[in-house]
Amino acid sequence: MEDLHRANIKRSLYDCLTMNAEQYSQFLSEIEKLASLNVGDKVYFRGLIELSNICVKNCYYCGIRRGNTNVHRYQLPIEDVMSAVEISFQQHYGSIVIQAGERSDSVFVDYISKILRAVKHKYGGQIGITLSLGEQSRETLKEWFELGAHRYLLRIETSNKELYQKWHPNNSLHDYDKRLETLHLLRELGYQVGTGVLIGGPFQTVDNLVDDLLFFKEIDVDMVGMGPFISHPNTPFYNKLETNADLRSRYDLALRMISALRWLMPNINIAAATSLQAIDPMGREMAVKAGANIIMPNVTPQTSRVDYQLYPNKPCIDEEAWECKGCLDARLSMVDRCVGYDELGDSPHFFERL
Ligand code: 5AD
Ligand code: SF4
Ligand code: FES
Repeated sequence: MEDLHRANIKRSLYDCLTMNAEQYSQFLSEIEKLASLNVGDKVYFRGLIELSNICVKNCYYCGIRRGNTNVHRYQLPIEDVMSAVEISFQQHYGSIVIQAGERSDSVFVDYISKILRAVKHKYGGQIGITLSLGEQSRETLKEWFELGAHRYLLRIETSNKELYQKWHPNNSLHDYDKRLETLHLLRELGYQVGTGVLIGGPFQTVDNLVDDLLFFKEIDVDMVGMGPFISHPNTPFYNKLETNADLRSRYDLALRMISALRWLMPNINIAAATSLQAIDPMGREMAVKAGANIIMPNVTPQTSRVDYQLYPNKPCIDEEAWECKGCLDARLSMVDRCVGYDELGDSPHFFERL
């Protein structure tokens, strides 16, 4: 019985990812109703701070992988981080996301702890804090949680272990099981947990993506952020698959993934990935139409944005932190949505599972 149910869900997800444009546009109106009913009509902003592009890892797809020697490496001084937090606060974003390349040495851990202490001291609980800092030890994650971080994003990248191994070097730094364990650990420690995958990467099939959606459901995540793979010239995956048509079909597939996930997990938070906007100027707004309810406007100081390019064509590189607000606000009104300013915008799913 259980197996039959799962097989039916799998079939529906597969259909959703492969339906034609006309069918999909009908499905979209259902999805809009479903989203409105379960997470409301508002879109929540998280000010994204790209703290540092120093990374110990060497993921084959990523532009800031350790092996790319063409990148100017930076780490924001704490004062710059604090002004980015202040901008988010002044812009009424409600939450910040602190993201960086992966490091777990004690100097880095202390640097993050120091930032968290400073944010807590200045803002108390007035601004939500999400971390996106890769795999860390239990002690570190516990310390950061106690210092006020309450959400954590750790993309599994793909839920298929064999595919994971094709996308990463074969060494202990890139261990699928450890990544999975960290996701469980985050939940055990009390974080709201987010994960996600790359869409349309080399060797990936539609079946893999269906399994990714089922994986999100199985581990019962609170938030998901997933976006299309965009090949970066200074990575081993450059030209593994690259035609313009491919780029567009990955974009379409990413929107369908969002809709399929909204159908499967109606009350979680789903982020409109910035990489969608690297393909289409209205990418993030289209993601909202497809079922997403979170957008992360970049608040990194403009001088560092150019160095944090996981993929080429990243939007908003030349804008100052305050410029994205009006821009996104106007774009969202084009798809009839408004912004939940000054609200934390936690996923209803998190409260339900508590
Ligand atoms: N294209 C799209 N997304 C990418 N990421 C890394 N490299 C790329 C790329 N070439 C994503 C990964 C990572 C997130 C921060 O950025 O999924 O988890
Ligand atoms: Fe580092 Fe993340 Fe890029 Fe991998 S995807 S190389 S962990 S920044
Ligand atoms: Fe950044 Fe438009 S969203 S400038």
